[in-house]
Amino acid sequence: MEAPQDVRGCCAAVYASDWVRLLLGDSFHPGGTRLTEHLGRLLGLDARSRVLDVATGRGTSALHLARTFGCEVLGIDLAATSVEAAREAARTAGLDGRVRFEVGDAETLEVDGGFDAAICECAFCTFPDKAAAAAAMARAVRPGGRIGLGDLVRNGPLPVELEGLLAWVACVADALPLEGYRCHLEEAGFSVETVEDHRAVLAEMVGDIRTRLTAAELMARLRRVALPGADFARARAMARAAMDAVREGTLSYALLIGSRR
Ligand SMILES: C[S@@+](CC[C@H](N)C(=O)[O-])C[C@H]1O[C@@H](n2cnc3c(N)ncnc32)[C@H](O)[C@@H]1O
Repeated sequence: MEAPQDVRGCCAAVYASDWVRLLLGDSFHPGGTRLTEHLGRLLGLDARSRVLDVATGRGTSALHLARTFGCEVLGIDLAATSVEAAREAARTAGLDGRVRFEVGDAETLEVDGGFDAAICECAFCTFPDKAAAAAAMARAVRPGGRIGLGDLVRNGPLPVELEGLLAWVACVADALPLEGYRCHLEEAGFSVETVEDHRAVLAEMVGDIRTRLTAAELMARLRRVALPGADFARARAMARAAMDAVREGTLSYALLIGSRR
């Protein structure tokens, strides 16, 4: 599939918006910090680990890992407003000595190498040049270090409601089959050792989004919140189609863990 124009900028702008926080809270992937913590355990993180969080959003996972495992984390994201919010959250949590955030593009990322682990949650599927992003993460991780990818998995064609720019940004339109993610990681220099299916948390997240959408629509109707440009009918149709796709097994969520060769 061809990338819609400026998908990167659009994705960054959408995830920096109040709209997305209203629907998702601060953690923008299925399973939230619970699944991030599980990912941290699969990666074997501890207080000596240096971790890179690619497409960190508002830094919720980076901060949770630092709090739970005592590790040092660098989070990067394309959206300057999300990075600023993440820095503020780190200061508020008293973690700004151990967790840093920088603006950066995952596809052209140039950070010092030698990270013990890199994570990328629910974002790799939105990168138009996935091979470049996988190669950038491989450059960042030391040999023997680990990669932890959490992403939407697509098994077959999706309904029309889940095509186009909005669906791309929602991590659905360019989601790959499991083998697609495995190939990108292997070609970049990682050996994939563990794959876990987490479709239940995806179903939970889509259910939560539908509930919050209903609440947001009600609040907008009662004029308790101003949501300029909100297209509730389209959002509802997308959420319904996503739930059907999860139930049918066309959409799922997986964790892939690999080691840098
Ligand atoms: C679904 S959110 C996931 C955020 C975070 N990983 C989490 O789970 O809470 C996708 C994030 O990818 C970021 N993003 C999109 N394209 C990017 C790129 N090329 N480089 C860095 N960040 C990017 C967006 O700004 C957004 O914060």
